[in-house]
Amino acid sequence: MPLNKQRKLKTFTLLFFIISFTTFLFTYTFRDPSLYFFKYALRLSDNFFSKGPCACPRCMMEPEDDPWFAERFNQSVNPLMTRDNSVLSDETLAWWQWLQSERKPTNFHKVVRDVFHFIPDEALYMDAGPERCRTCAVVGNSGNLKGSQYGAIIDSSDLIIRMNQAPTMGFEKDVGSRTTHHLMYPESAVDLDSTTHLVLVPFKTLDLQWLISALTTGTIKETYMPVKTTIKANKDKVLIYSPAFFKYVYDNWLEGHGRYPSTGFLSLMFAIHICDKVSVFGFGADQRGNWHHYWDDNHLAGAFRFTGVHDGDYEYNVTLLLADKHKIRMFKGRSGPVQ
Ligand code: C5P
Repeated sequence: MPLNKQRKLKTFTLLFFIISFTTFLFTYTFRDPSLYFFKYALRLSDNFFSKGPCACPRCMMEPEDDPWFAERFNQSVNPLMTRDNSVLSDETLAWWQWLQSERKPTNFHKVVRDVFHFIPDEALYMDAGPERCRTCAVVGNSGNLKGSQYGAIIDSSDLIIRMNQAPTMGFEKDVGSRTTHHLMYPESAVDLDSTTHLVLVPFKTLDLQWLISALTTGTIKETYMPVKTTIKANKDKVLIYSPAFFKYVYDNWLEGHGRYPSTGFLSLMFAIHICDKVSVFGFGADQRGNWHHYWDDNHLAGAFRFTGVHDGDYEYNVTLLLADKHKIRMFKGRSGPVQ
């Protein structure tokens, strides 16, 4: 075929394809514009502006989550007790009353009613969503905080959760100075300032009665041991750890290990259910394998590990797994963050 004819044929074929393609596109688009360009543009913009489960770069619950985590994590169980969720199933009530073998349990539901006459009844923190990025620091009492210089990073979180006897005064450089939530029970109680939420972890009905007493008349002086008769705390900021959540933690997360979870583990669980980003400090032994508190000079004081009621190793392994799966960030002391 002569060169001229070949060129003409190529140009004709090209023109034919362009015209056919454009005609198809126009017909399709005009017949129902939403079907093509519009939908495509919408999908593009959707992907670009789409919101995740929270407003942090990473969220506690991701769409395609780790199966180990997804099997255990239930965001619908409220860690805090309200009037509405205070009615416990017989099984939960029996389990909870067994924890410290309360010999003469008074009417639990009547005491709960008294408590909520005394403190506010609010459903707090159950507001996870695409607009929220709540950062939290859980500060355990381990001696590995000594010399860590974590104070500033702890204080930079939205919520700072401490527990039991934990002091800050004199330890600010290592443990920070702010506390938004302080978990305690009668036998571990300390005075708080008026801005901090006292989070009572009740192990028995008497603990709820003690709360009212300690903030008013001071009539309850002992449980299974002598306890603080009065306590400084803002009664309008008092919160109660839910016994139902307590059981969920024991069943789902500890799978029945130990008699019941430690305050540290309960605090960690509290945080992963109400926060989007959780940093954990002061858990585990120090570099020399000591389990003392950060304010204890005696390194051989076997705090926490040898109480007999908690399975410290199991709890610590679950904590490490959460860090492995990027659900929490663990800071292990002077050696710096683990990951
Ligand atoms: O000793 P205490 O129970 O007050 O400590 C609070 C929490 O801090 C413990 O429940 C535990 O989770 C954590 N802790 C720890 N290692 C220590 C001391 C405390 O992990 N050496």
